[in-house]
Amino acid sequence: MKAHTISDSVYCLHADITASDLFEGIWPIPQGVSLNSYIVKGEKIALIDLIRDWGSAPTQFEDALKDTGINFDQVDYLILNHLEPDHTGWLREFRQKSPKAEIVSTSKGINLVKSFYKAEDGLRVVKDGETLDLGKGKILTFRETPNIHWPETMVTWDSESGTLFTCDAFGSYGILGDRIFDDQFSQAEHIAYEKECLRYYANIVSSFSAFVEKAVEKVSGLDIKCIAPSHGIVWRSDPKKIITRYLKYASYAKGPSNPGGSAEKEIAVIWGSMYGNTKQGVDAVIRGIVSEGVPYSIHRVPDENVSWVLMDVYKSAGLVIAMPTYEYAMFPPMANILDIFRRKHITGKTVLRIGSWGWVGGAKKEYEAAIEPLKWTSLESLEWAGAPGEDVLKGLEEKGRELARAVLAGK
Ligand code: FEO
Repeated sequence: MKAHTISDSVYCLHADITASDLFEGIWPIPQGVSLNSYIVKGEKIALIDLIRDWGSAPTQFEDALKDTGINFDQVDYLILNHLEPDHTGWLREFRQKSPKAEIVSTSKGINLVKSFYKAEDGLRVVKDGETLDLGKGKILTFRETPNIHWPETMVTWDSESGTLFTCDAFGSYGILGDRIFDDQFSQAEHIAYEKECLRYYANIVSSFSAFVEKAVEKVSGLDIKCIAPSHGIVWRSDPKKIITRYLKYASYAKGPSNPGGSAEKEIAVIWGSMYGNTKQGVDAVIRGIVSEGVPYSIHRVPDENVSWVLMDVYKSAGLVIAMPTYEYAMFPPMANILDIFRRKHITGKTVLRIGSWGWVGGAKKEYEAAIEPLKWTSLESLEWAGAPGEDVLKGLEEKGRELARAVLAGK
């Protein structure tokens, strides 16, 4: 893997991960993911963020470092913006190769270096606003940006090149190949990439959206010429584009019923069905949604991976939750999905629940307890025994219209 030049003193080294492994051990990455590190050169040399021993990442990283003409033993500082092991897992190996490199991070970051890697020496804590002088006029400044996406996170600012190194913030799933800069990708590639960016945000960052807004506010006074995240595209041509995109994603977290919320006026239909009776109801609701002209996405559980369900649910103002009663309670795959929604703080949605039951209902009580923390605005549910008759189907279609109108009205 070659190194890429950001300026005459800043280089990007990246490793593409195409393995069928899961990101964080949970999230599928069929388009892969990149692990980006950066070299900043003054009289001294800093490496910003590392890699994990994942697939061929170490080989790619070593090849890219070699391409800069820098040897491991020339690295003076390893700056760790974030300690999650996708950016630090190779730390022990790195330290053997670069024994003199001092590790630089926030106080919480250094604590994590100690707990994850049992390192005690060569560690430097930096505070918010502190600088590191690399010589030749190259001064790096550290800004704490907690909870993007762990509490210890910071960003590193190189004022000379105008590059902001942001680690997880402004990142995305998707490998890069032999191009890394925003101006090197076609419009079609950017459209595909944006979907992976949203899925990454919904899976990894969405719970911390308030911190995204704070971080953007914190760096708003900087004359940013390049956003250099540690996953995905490096934004040198239009850095505002990815900042604006992240602010839009952050605003989805508020939902339509909260001040300033701006989830898309779309509906995500999440459904499970045992013998097709709930599915008939889903089809009727969708007819109602379509008649009001509201876009919708549809996901069947447990068939679809929750990663994509989360993506559409996160961005949509309205939801349909459709499931049968199963042994006096919720359809188990839907119970699991709702638990993940709770863990990911999918709040502020306008929601319609429907479903059939066999010999007795029972999903209602468990469902209402499950969604209580989510502060959803719930339309009156519609349940029926066995197969839906004509009257029920008409009622469901009207429910779909009612939900669509509520989403359009921002209720
Ligand atoms: Fe890419 Fe939170 O680590």
